[in-house]
Amino acid sequence: MKAVVLNRFGGPEELRPAEVERPEPGPGQVRLRVRAAGVNPFDAKVRSGAMEAVFTTPLPTILGLEAAGVVDAVGPDVTGWSVGDEVLGWTDTGAYAEYALATAVARKPEGLSWERAVTLPVAAETAGRVFRLLGIEPGETLLVHGAAGGVGSLAVQLAVAAGLRVIGTAGPANQEHVAALGATPTTYGEGLVERVRALAPEGVDAVFDVAGRGALPASIELRGGTDRIVTIADAPAAAELGVVFSGGPPERSPDRLAELADLAAQGDLVTPVGGTFPLADAAEAHRVSASGHARGKLVLIA
Ligand SMILES: NC(=O)c1ccc[n+]([C@@H]2O[C@H](COP(=O)([O-])OP(=O)(O)OC[C@H]3O[C@@H](n4cnc5c(N)ncnc54)[C@H](OP(=O)(O)O)[C@@H]3O)[C@@H](O)[C@H]2O)c1
Repeated sequence: MKAVVLNRFGGPEELRPAEVERPEPGPGQVRLRVRAAGVNPFDAKVRSGAMEAVFTTPLPTILGLEAAGVVDAVGPDVTGWSVGDEVLGWTDTGAYAEYALATAVARKPEGLSWERAVTLPVAAETAGRVFRLLGIEPGETLLVHGAAGGVGSLAVQLAVAAGLRVIGTAGPANQEHVAALGATPTTYGEGLVERVRALAPEGVDAVFDVAGRGALPASIELRGGTDRIVTIADAPAAAELGVVFSGGPPERSPDRLAELADLAAQGDLVTPVGGTFPLADAAEAHRVSASGHARGKLVLIA
């Protein structure tokens, strides 16, 4: 099968299209003919070797945490899935390929395109995990740093749907986008504490730092301490300041993913796609992702 293979750690140019053996599904796994693969900033961290200090990735490897595609083979002990089913989910073997194995998938509704479907798995799992850690409740005010990106866009909508008021930070070009998702937008950077205080004089109840771009001190100031602040993108600052960092373990819920896919298909959930690329152009997708200003998910079409 065609895949994009990482043979050594380094820049985007290390992502090389190659012909590799097609994986065979084991117990509990389905094999997908991948139609769309999500590109996440995490992939670039693995590609560069930056994640090696936390966990090691044996090379060669195929990157990609999430895919949408058609079930083309079913392993032993799999119930509920048949060849031809259209699904989205988290992959076990790397999504930057024509075929990938998966154990946790949800049905893709007909009205949801492949590229919109693949915006959901990683963002849904991450937002759900962080919301549980934060213990957010209806009626509360949540501050989201990095509200315009892949995770932030979904987190804003889910928090608003759960009855929270959300203040979301983004760059000047994304203020309207964040407002359209249901949040009160504000810009990040100098003066953030004062801007948030003006928008929420009664204070913020919880902070979700999706961006990891130096907003933890301001968050602590706004909260009056480190309680109910979670970052997913700045482990060193979290350790230094005593803030919770969440990097897993993943809490994958195919049922919840199916609900979100249905909402997206009905038009009740915005699923922004920041750009699509042919599978062989994964390196270019990584260069765009590195700009740090994607509005929604970058997607490889396999
Ligand atoms: N630990 C975990 O479990 C976990 C899971 C998923 C993702 N992550 C991490 O979370 C981060 C975000 O992921 P993503 O997929 O949402 O990325 P993304 O789609 O690339 O979005 C990044 C967003 O950050 C915003 N941004 C850039 N500079 C900012 C700043 N100084 N303050 C606030 N926002 C800023 C950008 O908005 P503007 O263009 O408006 O500036 C952009 O929309 C990545 O570091 C990723 O690795 C961690």
